[in-house]
Amino acid sequence: MRIPFLFVTRSCKAVHRLQQSSFLSPVSALSSHQRIAVLRNTSTHFCKEDRSYYITTPIFYVNASPHLGHLYSAVIADCLHRYKLLHGFNSKFATGTDEHGLKIQQAAEAAGKDTLTFCTDVSERFRHLFNSCNISYTDYIRTTEHSHCQAVKHFWAVLCNKGLIYKGSYEGWYSTQDESFLTPSQVGDAWDSSGKEIKVSLESGHKVEWMKEENYMFRLSAFRFQLLDWLRGNPGAIKPVRFYQAVLQWLQEDLPDLSVSRQRSRLQWGIPVPGDAEQTIYVWLDALVNYLTVAGYPDKHSQWWNVAHHIVGKDILKFHAIYWPAFLLGAGLPLPQTIYVHSHWTVGGKKMSKSLGNVVDPLERSQMFTTDGMRYFLLRQGVPDSDCDYTDNKVMKLLNAELADSLGGLLNRCTAPALNPAQVYPSFCRQCLPSQHGGRAVVEDYQMLDAVKNLPAVVEQHYESMHVYKALEAISACVRQTNGFVQRHAPWKLDRMDSKDQHWLDTIIHVSLECLRIYGTLLQPIVPEISNKLLCRLGVQPDERSWADVNFLPRYQGMDCPFEGRALGSDSGLLFSRLESQNIDKQKPKKTKKAEHLK
Ligand code: MSP
Repeated sequence: MRIPFLFVTRSCKAVHRLQQSSFLSPVSALSSHQRIAVLRNTSTHFCKEDRSYYITTPIFYVNASPHLGHLYSAVIADCLHRYKLLHGFNSKFATGTDEHGLKIQQAAEAAGKDTLTFCTDVSERFRHLFNSCNISYTDYIRTTEHSHCQAVKHFWAVLCNKGLIYKGSYEGWYSTQDESFLTPSQVGDAWDSSGKEIKVSLESGHKVEWMKEENYMFRLSAFRFQLLDWLRGNPGAIKPVRFYQAVLQWLQEDLPDLSVSRQRSRLQWGIPVPGDAEQTIYVWLDALVNYLTVAGYPDKHSQWWNVAHHIVGKDILKFHAIYWPAFLLGAGLPLPQTIYVHSHWTVGGKKMSKSLGNVVDPLERSQMFTTDGMRYFLLRQGVPDSDCDYTDNKVMKLLNAELADSLGGLLNRCTAPALNPAQVYPSFCRQCLPSQHGGRAVVEDYQMLDAVKNLPAVVEQHYESMHVYKALEAISACVRQTNGFVQRHAPWKLDRMDSKDQHWLDTIIHVSLECLRIYGTLLQPIVPEISNKLLCRLGVQPDERSWADVNFLPRYQGMDCPFEGRALGSDSGLLFSRLESQNIDKQKPKKTKKAEHLK
């Protein structure tokens, strides 16, 4: 049953008030049941009735050029954004760059460049990569923009006014590479390249340093139970479940308060703390607020902020699933609907890093394998739950098998002039393929029809849970079944002079083109260029490509098919050209001396 919109809006205002007051009075003043209801409402109820959708990528550090992992985060978000658009949502998609902090300050110094010029250069490289790869963001934010700095200052002031920030002293480990504070149990021993013993973060392997300074602290410790309630009341708030459980596990221990500023003498490249020019706001607080800035914070963020979804890599889960919700609860703002977490791409089983010389350049690879090829590979092979190893060979094999041979081959066969001299979407004959068995079809054909009919619902479910690889697996299995259908009935062997054979031939082609139309429509979020080419070839117009248009094989159910008799599109070129290994090898970047040496 749909809840009337008015009711939802009102209840959300009430929730908002409750949420604010639930912090001001101790949260334990509410029963556990009430707390869960409050948080569940803020997190999920509102969105169901709203046709707006807001998806974000993490904003990317500009200390180095983009690599394959960065493109992966962006491609996942792009896929979900395009999917929501196909569903008729008003979708906003934000990405951008994270430009403040010590690590950026140091990288600019090392490059001998003015810091902002350095940030602009690298930010433009990310933008160029995303534009080249059809990442259809609606907003590109840079944290050095004026509007963002204003939003961060406002957010800080709200937390301050609620008594959540106090002046204190932080003493402990800090990793500049991760811009993260660590507890002693998160730190281990290691040796640097000169054999000197150093301390490193056990999670990232990055060097940590002991720091002791006076700065501002956020009362993170006050939010542990609210965070637990939020998660228990919203099991879908963090996906996949493995990461949801990890966060619940972290919350079993006390949360220390969080240092949210650095002394200006050490960190100049950042937003000054309002009212205290001696301190700079912690880069993660600054960066996380970007999601609000894009939504229109502080004046007009509700439309988008109530329907926010974040894509994040597993390495930045703590910041998004603990710090960020705590900041938001403190500021009296709703929590994100979903945090989708993905794992990492490794090369040779190792994390990509400049020093190992194993960084995969995503721009180079999308030129080698085509943009859609790269997008398809990343989403077909990338599994959110576990890391995935990258090799060029895997890309080539997968794309040749699934895009060139299977999907491309099917289109080629079914539109070949030899089988379809009139170049039209042929007619469907109900006697040849009746809903009850009895025509010329066999049991496997009916199984194939069932699978394709159910495919949109299956794919939808997988897109919604960010298991894009499962959606692609399901599509790929159906493409194979359709190829099997064509192969089984070998339409090229039918006698065109015999009218019964001709009807059956037309029916085989009609059914196959209908299957291809469904695949083309469902694949749009993944491979927009290939889908467009495919749908154009089938004569499917741009306004006939939404999720509501899928309606598979209407003639089989006795309804009209708008495509029957329509001329096919004129571009009969290959959907995806096979990749040859010698061509790929020629285009491979030359290895740097350093990389050779390390190998
Ligand atoms: N600036 C922070 C995010 C701030 S969001 C408020 C940051 N930046 S990052 O550039 O280091 O990482 C951006 C994203 O790229 C993260 O989601 C991270 O997980 C992802 N990846 C970085 N390396 C990756 C792989 N090797 N594989 C897949 N994704 C990886 O963190």
